[in-house]
Amino acid sequence: MSSRKKLIAGNWKMNKTASDGAALVSELVATIGKQTDVEVVLCPPFTGLESAAKALDGSTLKLGAQNMHFEPSGAFTGEVSAPMLRALFTTHVILGHSERRSYFAETDALINKKVLAALKNQLRPILCVGESLAERESGATLKVVQTQTEAALEGVAKDQAASLVIAYEPVWAIGTGKVATTEQAQEVHAFIRGLLTKLFTEPVAQKIRILYGGSMKPANAPELLAQKDIDGGLIGGASLEARSFVELVKAAAAVV
Ligand code: PGA
Repeated sequence: MSSRKKLIAGNWKMNKTASDGAALVSELVATIGKQTDVEVVLCPPFTGLESAAKALDGSTLKLGAQNMHFEPSGAFTGEVSAPMLRALFTTHVILGHSERRSYFAETDALINKKVLAALKNQLRPILCVGESLAERESGATLKVVQTQTEAALEGVAKDQAASLVIAYEPVWAIGTGKVATTEQAQEVHAFIRGLLTKLFTEPVAQKIRILYGGSMKPANAPELLAQKDIDGGLIGGASLEARSFVELVKAAAAVV
């Protein structure tokens, strides 16, 4: 049995105004606000961080951002830095999401700078990696995941690595209703654990949570979460409503 605490993170993407988000957080606090056997992280858009932070104050729920710039401050119009996120009680930050990679041209080199900046500022990166449908069909899945993981983690010190979270999100499964089979997901998760072992040693790799993401829902979560190397989920669509998100947290608690 793994000693890693399961982690369920809600990626709201570009959804919910500050007040709609605070209302959802209040509902979640009422039902799972004292959950301690599962770590729960909510990732609203930047504009919702402050109201979400107030709404979850005093609960066990944690706050994450969906992106950040790698510099602490400066002339970067439209960007938000790690110290700014920390000042709003943010503890986690999603980095390298496939939507950032494809719509905003984020490269592995840029994502690497962000990972290093997040760690420097005591923010836990939730680093997303995953292959496209064409890459899976051409048999390149493991190679793509290896390149993305190794490039994003270049220069990460062994003593910082345990605070990393990796999210394996096959691009073809995101928002499509097509979920990876448990075998497909576990194979990639075990492969990532192997990469982490090479980079940071076995004891450190055993501490790092590897989440699955891509159309995870209450119906398919129990089987995925029961896999040896699947330590939780990064949830998009199903995190936008209290009922489905709470069910996912309960599913994670059930396999603890
Ligand atoms: P989905 O999104 O659950 O809606 O597929 C997951 C994600 O993109 O993080």
